[in-house]
Amino acid sequence: MPQCHSTNDLALRHCQKNDWLEGTVIITNNQTAGRGQRGNVWLTQSGKNLTFSFMIRPTFLTVKEQFYLTIFVSLGIYDYVTEKTGKKVHIKWPNDVLVNDRKICGVLIENQLSGNRLEATVIGIGLNINQQQFESGTPTSLSIITDQAYALSDELDLLLQKLEQRYFQLKERKLAKLKADYLNALYRNGADHAYLTADGETRGRITGIDEIGRLTVMVDGQLKSFDVKEIKFV
Ligand code: BTN
Repeated sequence: MPQCHSTNDLALRHCQKNDWLEGTVIITNNQTAGRGQRGNVWLTQSGKNLTFSFMIRPTFLTVKEQFYLTIFVSLGIYDYVTEKTGKKVHIKWPNDVLVNDRKICGVLIENQLSGNRLEATVIGIGLNINQQQFESGTPTSLSIITDQAYALSDELDLLLQKLEQRYFQLKERKLAKLKADYLNALYRNGADHAYLTADGETRGRITGIDEIGRLTVMVDGQLKSFDVKEIKFV
C-alpha cells in the first residue's frame, strides 16, 4: 500500500473476512496511524523504514504456548540486525530489539482465538532503517549504526527470510532451542537493575521467563513473575 493508517488494522480486517493466505505481508511506505504496544502510537517518517504486518495460522500452538510467537519474531529480527550490524543485539522483554541500548525495532502481535487455539496471528513490525532523526525518545536505526543508506525492498527480503527460518523452527517444535536463544539475547538477563512495579521503584535481577512468558525477576530474595503492564524498566 503506498499509504495506509495501520498495516496491523488492514491485516486484522482480512483475518475477520477469512480471505487470506498464511504468510501474506501487508507493507506500506507511509503509515499514518501506526499503533504500538500498550496503546501507544508508532510514528515513522514516510518512505524511510520498514513498516509492515504479516499473517500466520499458528494452529499448532495452544494459547498457553503463545509466547513462542513473541520469541520467534524477536529472534528473527535479532538475527537480521545482528547480521547487518555485527554488533551485540539485545531483546528487551518482551520484544523490543535494541542495539547499544537503543530501540531499533518494535513489534505488535495481535491474535484471533478460536476456543483454546490460535486461529490467526497478525505480526506488525516497525524496523528503523534509513531514518536519522527522531522526534521523541532515543531510538536508533540501521543507517545511524552503520552510516549507510539501504534499499528497503532488499532489507525486507532478508528480514522475511530470517523470520521464516525462526518460524520453521517453531513449526518443528524446537521450543527448547528457541527459548535458549531468546534468553541468551535477553536484555539485562542476570544483572541487577532498577525496575518500576506496583510496589514502586525497586532493584531486581532478571532470571528469565516463566512457562507463560512472564518476566521473572529476583526481588529481595523472592522470585516474582511480571506481566507487560506490571513492570517498567528504569
Ligand atoms: C511498539 O510499540 O514497540 C510496537 C510498534 C509496532 C509498529 C508496527 S509498524 C507496522 C504495524 N502496524 C501498526 O500499526 N503497528 C505495527
